[in-house]
Amino acid sequence: MRTIAIMNNKGGVGKTVTAINLADILVREHHKRVVLADCDGQMNLTRFYLPEFDPDMNFSIERLLVGESEPVWSDNLTPLSPGLDLIPGSSGLYELDVRAIKDGLSSPELLRGFCQAAAHDNETDFFVFDCPPGFTTASIAALIAADEVVIPMLVDGFSFSGMMDMAAQIRSMRRANSSIRIAGVLLTQWRNTEVVRQGEALLRSLDVPVFRQTIRRTEKVPESTFDRTPIWQYSPGSAASQDYRAWVREYLGEV
Ligand SMILES: Nc1ncnc2c1ncn2[C@@H]1O[C@H](COP(=O)(O)OP(=O)(O)O)[C@@H](O)[C@H]1O
Ligand SMILES: [Mg+2]
Repeated sequence: MRTIAIMNNKGGVGKTVTAINLADILVREHHKRVVLADCDGQMNLTRFYLPEFDPDMNFSIERLLVGESEPVWSDNLTPLSPGLDLIPGSSGLYELDVRAIKDGLSSPELLRGFCQAAAHDNETDFFVFDCPPGFTTASIAALIAADEVVIPMLVDGFSFSGMMDMAAQIRSMRRANSSIRIAGVLLTQWRNTEVVRQGEALLRSLDVPVFRQTIRRTEKVPESTFDRTPIWQYSPGSAASQDYRAWVREYLGEV
């Protein structure tokens, strides 16, 4: 089982879109079993699949982080489609951060134990955490649980600093004996302009792993989020659909 945190301190860089499409392609093209977990209080990932989801009435990752999960790990999943399950997010994750600071309530390491139980049962192949921007209780829990981090970014100055902060954080976790590694930086919303070409060259000259494959910018992606359909299903021939499929092959080491 592989456990992946999709994270960048910067918002709007394609973390959620990458989580959705990674999971979709792993399940439908590579026949893997995937659990998606929404660590963001904005709940974009949860609302994409379950627009009516009510966190007050249902299990969400917040309960897991305060030790209120069902004893058998798989009883905490919301099935979405064959091979794909979700641990929903909740806006209560914001409140949890406040309580975590004030009262020490929440245990980020619980998520790691949860993933270890899943690995032990061998009932899923991938855990994919869609993280919020910044170091919150849920994103720290995801980093503690994860074997590897995918850092989506786009070419602009602010994204560069978000990416560098992430890389520094991962290095400091490794120094503190975590085995987490950066799988790679994924350039999203790529387009053939001077600034993007130069930014990409700069990124590739730095001491961080960067995926060869980039994801091109296309209006089909925001359209697919309105339609609440992964891009390969929404627009199979679109640039982003081809790029995400090629990237997943690269990620799995198949090219
Ligand atoms: N390849 C792409 N082409 C065009 N728009 C994209 C692409 N990837 C993401 N977007 C858009 O960028 C915005 C931010 O994406 P999102 O996945 O929500 O970022 P994050 O989770 O990092 O905040 C969304 O409006 C999304 O539709
Ligand atoms: Mg997001």
